[in-house]
Amino acid sequence: MHVSGTPYRTIWPSVTDKTVINIIDQRHLPHRFVIEELRTVSEVCTAIREMHVRGAGLIGATAGFGMHLAALTAPESGFVAFMQMAAADLIKTRPTASNLAWAVNRQLGAIEPKDTLAAKRLKAFAIACAIADEDAEFCRRIGEHGKKIIAELSRRKNGAPVNILTHCNAGWLAFVDYGSATAPIYAAHTEGIKVHVWVDETRPWLQGAKLTTWELKEEGVAHTLIADNTGGHLMQHGLVDMVIVGTDRTTRCGDVANKIGTYLKALAAHDNRVPFYVALPSSTFDWAIRDGLAEIPIEQRSGEEITHIRGLNKSDELTTIIISPPDTPTLNYGFDVTPARLITGLISERGVMTADENDILRLYPEQR
Ligand code: MRU
Repeated sequence: MHVSGTPYRTIWPSVTDKTVINIIDQRHLPHRFVIEELRTVSEVCTAIREMHVRGAGLIGATAGFGMHLAALTAPESGFVAFMQMAAADLIKTRPTASNLAWAVNRQLGAIEPKDTLAAKRLKAFAIACAIADEDAEFCRRIGEHGKKIIAELSRRKNGAPVNILTHCNAGWLAFVDYGSATAPIYAAHTEGIKVHVWVDETRPWLQGAKLTTWELKEEGVAHTLIADNTGGHLMQHGLVDMVIVGTDRTTRCGDVANKIGTYLKALAAHDNRVPFYVALPSSTFDWAIRDGLAEIPIEQRSGEEITHIRGLNKSDELTTIIISPPDTPTLNYGFDVTPARLITGLISERGVMTADENDILRLYPEQR
């Protein structure tokens, strides 16, 4: 998508030197646009753990390039053991998004011990690029499928703007390009369908207030930032036509883990008969699990994300301030699980399905 009119992806190898992987350091947005260069697998681990990059798809793509960087220093004898250690380090960085282990395992699974060292390294780079390209392409297709749902709502409203509520950032910044939840919105907007997005601020990291607003503004999509607790009130007053969110891990039965607070939005949507859609590339399915509540690992993060807040001060400096009494006890779950029964539909690169195993397997018969 675009930054000041220039097309960007969230991650790309340097054109002249593929030992350098460029990312947008999202900790500085929306106030500063900072590109960071990653050169080692340890730098990649830091970038994922400390959320220079974030969002399920982008975490996966970054881990894919992390394996490429690991391959560049892996010794000829002991290549596989070295890569397995790098894989374990990468997988430990964040537990909830399934794309991370999926990308790392795709790299591990492609290693041919009989290949030369040079061939193994070339392959790791090719796979990292393929993971990134595929993520972008799958999100583009999600946009095409999801756009039809928005078009139908627009038709029913005689062309009046379709009001879409989203939580967190499942935009292009959370993927390589387009986003998952935002892809249908961008596709509809490009086609001239009028849309307006209610953006949940998404405490405590504020992905909505910092990132989703920035993205939508850069693309010229009408939007309004709301406090996290506002969505239910808007739904009661008929001001939300649909909800679209992303997901970090989805079970084969359609339970969805997404940013903390998503479950409450799904309950409010259910109570008010507002359609609640979840958009995901298939790399976010965890085919090995069925019960989201029991089986999806939920990340807990530092309490400082709740007790402190970061933004620009009047001197235009990025500053962190404390907002609660010192040493206040905290509990900071990063994600919650929305049960399949509250979800109207899943939108993936293969189409729209209901959140149940049979319909999911209709589009993914190879997972039977
Ligand atoms: O903690 P984050 O920012 O990495 O969380 C990921 C998210 O942005 C959301 O949960 C998102 O809605 C799904 S990821 C595509």
